[in-house]
Amino acid sequence: MQEKILILDFGSQYTQLIARRVRELNVYCEIFPYNKIPKIDDSIKGVILSGSPFSVRDKNALIPDLLNIKGIKPALGVCYGAQYLAHFYGGKVSPSDHREYGRANLKFIDNTNELFKDVSANTQVWMSHADTITKLPDNYKVIAGTDDVKFGAFKINDEETYGIQFHPEVYHTQEGKKIIKNFVVDICQAKQDWTPASFVTSTVSELKNKIGNDKVVLGLSGGVDSTVVATLLNKAIGKNLTCIFVDNGLLRKNEYSQVMASYKKMGFNVIGVDAKNKFLSDLKNVSEPETKRKIIGRNFIEVFDKEANKIQNVKWLAQGTIYPDVIESISVKGPSATIKSHHNVGGLPDVMKLQVIEPLKLLFKDEVRRVGKTLNISDDFLKRHPFPGPGLSIRIIGKITQEKISVLQEVDDIFISCLKENKLYDKVWQAGAILLPVQSVGVMGDERTYENVVALRAVSSTDGMTADWSHLPYEFLSNISNKIINNVKGVNRVVFDISSKPPATIEWE
Ligand code: XMP
Repeated sequence: MQEKILILDFGSQYTQLIARRVRELNVYCEIFPYNKIPKIDDSIKGVILSGSPFSVRDKNALIPDLLNIKGIKPALGVCYGAQYLAHFYGGKVSPSDHREYGRANLKFIDNTNELFKDVSANTQVWMSHADTITKLPDNYKVIAGTDDVKFGAFKINDEETYGIQFHPEVYHTQEGKKIIKNFVVDICQAKQDWTPASFVTSTVSELKNKIGNDKVVLGLSGGVDSTVVATLLNKAIGKNLTCIFVDNGLLRKNEYSQVMASYKKMGFNVIGVDAKNKFLSDLKNVSEPETKRKIIGRNFIEVFDKEANKIQNVKWLAQGTIYPDVIESISVKGPSATIKSHHNVGGLPDVMKLQVIEPLKLLFKDEVRRVGKTLNISDDFLKRHPFPGPGLSIRIIGKITQEKISVLQEVDDIFISCLKENKLYDKVWQAGAILLPVQSVGVMGDERTYENVVALRAVSSTDGMTADWSHLPYEFLSNISNKIINNVKGVNRVVFDISSKPPATIEWE
């Protein structure tokens, strides 16, 4: 039985970070909404209650059912979680009368308490709350505090239940990792045995058991996630896995042939489908970004379905879904309304009536990369920048033509190759070029030109949710601009995008 820590989500923006910190300790954990608590069995070694944008004083405060948890399993309330444990058990939470956002220092620490073992005096912590605990219930003991926040942390006597009003999961809490480790490893006694290698062994054997001799089909994209899924399945069921790689004509220059060759080398049973013409003709005269995405999504499903139907007796559809996608869809706040219609394979299972397998469903992106490393997948795949499913179609602003695709492929290829040559590729999270629907005047030799403008985009990020523009060296930008204008016919001006996300997005469409 896989031991785990349960994280109850009350909607904090930091809930995923708590999960990451626990997993960094090689302890497995899962996030559940506060009102969908799973059965509490022996596999659950402890529970963490997250923060929340809500207040425990609200009429509609979020109330979890802790009947099988509090006093039975070790529990740690963070921020809202702590305030909940105080307010609803005989204490009091009030609006704070001074700022409790940002850095603070723990002036008082009870180092005899296991949660604060080896945590240094005065250590910096990160506060982020509008409410504060003003009275603790009788059987609670203060174990840490700051100048302004007297009840910075508490423990309930005779129970392994703790609360902390600061956020140990964020980077600015200097010894946050230690505090989480004290809770997870010492107090919960969770085993630190969840590693990429153990994930591979257990997943391959689970896949074997689940699938048996059935056939599985998987869409490959050239990205990290689907490549890792294919490698795991290839190990588990070999030739019973058929992979389908669709050329939609909107990939980077030469990407289709290079990736196809790598897949074959990796021993995958892979079918390549040239659907360039179909995609291009359906996109003719379309300029609205969401319409482009929908057409591409629908086309992908059609092409994939047709190919998959040629394989006899397929029972399963594998997908490269990863944990952030899952968390997004089960989040307390509900699926975010602001995201673009990203997941282009989303409609597949319904159309195809297949059972779905998602072996990476519980992994974060960096964990997928670590698993990929354990599986000896090359850095070409593991370190590849993210690339959107609709490909270059959303980097050609306005209508798409074959000619525009070719121009953009050349520009993009020069940009990406130069980033690699200058050892900048791995420092950037994602890079690409955008073809603008703007002509500008230039001179070449004695002639006046009137040609296209391209924008270069390079960003640093950890998850694509927020991003800053990469501060690439001026010399590099200058060289690359010359190289593009001198080599790509039809382009006479290069600009560099210096917008961060938010308020801009990474893609332009
Ligand atoms: P934005 O533009 O929303 O992009 O800041 C965030 C990340 O998502 C990628 N992206 C997409 N990926 N289908 C995808 O598979 C899409 O329609 C899509 N749109 C944006 C983008 O490249 C970046 O990594």
